[in-house]
Amino acid sequence: MNTLTRHKILGFFIGLTLTLSTLAYMLSSVGMAVLAMVSAIGLCVVIKDIRQTRHALLRNYPLIARLRWIFEDERSKIQQYFIEHDTNGTPYNREKRADVYQKAKGEINTTPFGTQLNTYEAGYEFLKHSMFPVPVEKVRPLRTIVGTSKCKFPYNASIFNISAMSYGALSEAAVRALNAGASIGNFYHNTGEGGLSPYHKQGGDIVFQIGTGYFGCGATYDGVRYFNNEKFKETIDGAMGAVKMVEIKLSQGAKPGHGGILPASKNTQEIATIRGVEPNTDVMSPPYHTAFHDASSMLDFIEHVRILTGGLPIGIKLCMGEEMEFIDLVKKMVEKNSFPDFITIDGGEGGTGAAPLVFTNHIGMPLFDALKFVDATLKKHGLRDEITIIASGKASTSFDIIKTIAMGADIVNAARAFMLSLGCIQARECNKNTCPVGIATQNKTLIKGLNPYEKKFRVANYHKAVTHEVADIVAAMGYTSIYQVESDDIMVRTEDGKLRDL
Ligand SMILES: Cc1cc2nc3c(=O)[nH]c(=O)nc-3n(C[C@H](O)[C@H](O)[C@H](O)COP(=O)(O)O)c2cc1C
Repeated sequence: MNTLTRHKILGFFIGLTLTLSTLAYMLSSVGMAVLAMVSAIGLCVVIKDIRQTRHALLRNYPLIARLRWIFEDERSKIQQYFIEHDTNGTPYNREKRADVYQKAKGEINTTPFGTQLNTYEAGYEFLKHSMFPVPVEKVRPLRTIVGTSKCKFPYNASIFNISAMSYGALSEAAVRALNAGASIGNFYHNTGEGGLSPYHKQGGDIVFQIGTGYFGCGATYDGVRYFNNEKFKETIDGAMGAVKMVEIKLSQGAKPGHGGILPASKNTQEIATIRGVEPNTDVMSPPYHTAFHDASSMLDFIEHVRILTGGLPIGIKLCMGEEMEFIDLVKKMVEKNSFPDFITIDGGEGGTGAAPLVFTNHIGMPLFDALKFVDATLKKHGLRDEITIIASGKASTSFDIIKTIAMGADIVNAARAFMLSLGCIQARECNKNTCPVGIATQNKTLIKGLNPYEKKFRVANYHKAVTHEVADIVAAMGYTSIYQVESDDIMVRTEDGKLRDL
């Protein structure tokens, strides 16, 4: 826009303001007065835009350029509502989101007319069913025992559970609904690294996560966070038996090698008190632990935590990076005869409340590659029967759960799918404190929209429906246990149009 056009816009608003003001004065009409006011505001904005020096676009195209920011902000919603097809949205396409919503609401969960997928496209996957399905009642309960010979109190876990998401990343209403839903459906809820809040105590089984910030289980000395035995015991004992397992987080798929991030806008006084940090500041956990520094000291720490809990299953969570490090760790486990009860593998495709883009996009191994590797390594060193593998990475459908287990996991965790069950609309504003459905925000006005008493049933319904569907599919494959499904039961179409098993 040249200077002439800018002057024209300015002139137009001055003219409009004067004309409408005069008309309003003459006619004393309320409507006209409002119009005059609006155009006067427009005039002020135009002048402000021309005078500011930060945005060239705004100086050159006063007022009009603001539309760009508005559309930019609303882009993902416009995309989702008007442009996206049923099968091409990310990270969860409309079809997958609708599947969770319908299961959570207990609505009709069938589809008309046939698949929308191109079954001849590279990457298309399907499960091999049997000519002789078994009655679904014959499928064994979808549960498994977690706990090695080292642990005193093995835990009987569902094969599908809520992955780590902290109070802080999520609102109190969301945490309440998730834990109460877990209680109704008899599955577990991982606290995430933000400590154990009162909202976690709704009767659901808890996996307490120890992060590098040691929130709820540590103390600060000289500005550095350390694990603290007394604080840890106080937290675990305070949950009155609800804590069934403890997970030590090394890394997470969305930001491996980067500590947790709680933006200042979400760090309220209450959250700061639970975590033992300063309120209204960005809380950046370090990427490393101060409780250990190598494989051997990590195994010692696992044993230490196991003793502190009186013998609960203790695990580690990581996103796979350098494979040799993992092989060395497993060798050390054999050498010391000391190992965790479970290992949670988080895929590079995993979710987060907040992470730097490059860590999300380009660091960390995708789930299925990591899972195959971990399963094979533990088998090779004779530890697979002892250690339970838990896996997370974009699982939401019954097919995702079966595929993950077929690829080597014993248990599947999901974070974002359970957010969807709460009503998440994938606005992707978890890092801004503006989550429009009150799930990933600390804004009290937005949280009011989320009723935990209603939503807990959605969480439980989703879990029940998706696990029932898993059992239906296992029966259709002619099996009586989910653990009979192997990777060669899943076929994939390759680039050359042929079929091969996974
Ligand atoms: C809002 C949000 C908060 C999260 N917070 C944590 C956390 O505190 N600790 C952790 O280990 N992982 C955290 N994660 C990662 C999840 O636990 C999970 O590993 C990852 O999202 C993969 O699961 P999904 O693909 O089903 O979402 C978080 C994820 C989300 C979406």
